[in-house]
Amino acid sequence: MFDNKVVLTGVKPTGTPHLGNYLGAIKPAIELGKKVDKHYMFIADYHAINAEKDPLVLNQKLKEIACVYLAFGLDSNHSIFYRQSDIPEIHEITTILYAYTPKGFMNKAHAYKAAVDKNREIGKPDDDGINMGLYTYPTLMATDILAFNSDIVPVGKDQVQHVEIARDIAGAINAHYNKELLHLPTYHLAENVAVVPGIDGRKMSKSYGNVIPLFEDDKAIKKAIFSIKTDSRPMEEPKDPEGILVYEIYKSIATPEQLQEMGDGLRQGKLGYGHIKNMLLDAVINTVKDAREKYDYYMAHFDEVDAMLQQGATKARPVAIETLNRLKEAVFGR
Ligand code: TRP
Repeated sequence: MFDNKVVLTGVKPTGTPHLGNYLGAIKPAIELGKKVDKHYMFIADYHAINAEKDPLVLNQKLKEIACVYLAFGLDSNHSIFYRQSDIPEIHEITTILYAYTPKGFMNKAHAYKAAVDKNREIGKPDDDGINMGLYTYPTLMATDILAFNSDIVPVGKDQVQHVEIARDIAGAINAHYNKELLHLPTYHLAENVAVVPGIDGRKMSKSYGNVIPLFEDDKAIKKAIFSIKTDSRPMEEPKDPEGILVYEIYKSIATPEQLQEMGDGLRQGKLGYGHIKNMLLDAVINTVKDAREKYDYYMAHFDEVDAMLQQGATKARPVAIETLNRLKEAVFGR
């Protein structure tokens, strides 16, 4: 299905990921990257400055996210791995796209709408604290996608609208010049990607404070796992594993055999909540053991990572330059 397709994945640097991020986004992106011939994988640092104004924090987050992807097996010899801010042509292309972006698209984009709704909730003026970067975010994202002739953009549900906007802008430009100047992308919503519940049963999310961390020490992981909600039924009482939160989280990382073992133990009243939490703890620690070592290595040798990112930019940039030249020729008639 992805044969000969150009796949582009973007990620915002938002700090070290948790188990839900890993299973829901990082792992599928890395696996997909291995399957296709051409995979662009970039860190959207220009997007990040809309919210993060402290360069030290931003730089730290960028390092963390880059090292996390490499630690989990992103192959920078195969995937073209780069920083958005190393491709300056992105901004020239974006300016051209602006001329074809109806302002109404931006008004309707959900990141902006969510910010307005939040302001209304707390009785502030609609646009309070909203910068132009946030407002025009979908056009910049359209460039991220269109500059590299992407066919497929794997996204979560919240980003579908943005890919559709990219498609609409590209369509408008192509229609105006009656020429396929920009390649129309499609989004790909990964199926059966785990939505991992957090330790309180809601979706695992940093904003809920219910995450299982991955890159902290074992103690922190243990603390999170041992605070997963359970009830007071005794061990001996046979239990249906379905709906037991520890089991639900285990589903997302255990092998079928491991899952069977936990399920049987619960049904037969042979495993208590302490046991199953320890089983989950082992599985989580096993999942991240190698990655954590690699992560520590890359964090301590960031110059190597930096070299990979620069090499990626060297490969990506000529493609963006070509797209820009194509557009300039059409737009300026020269
Ligand atoms: N908006 C995406 C997010 O918040 C990040 C992103 C920026 C992106 N540009 C992109 C994703 C281009 C895919 C393609 O997660």
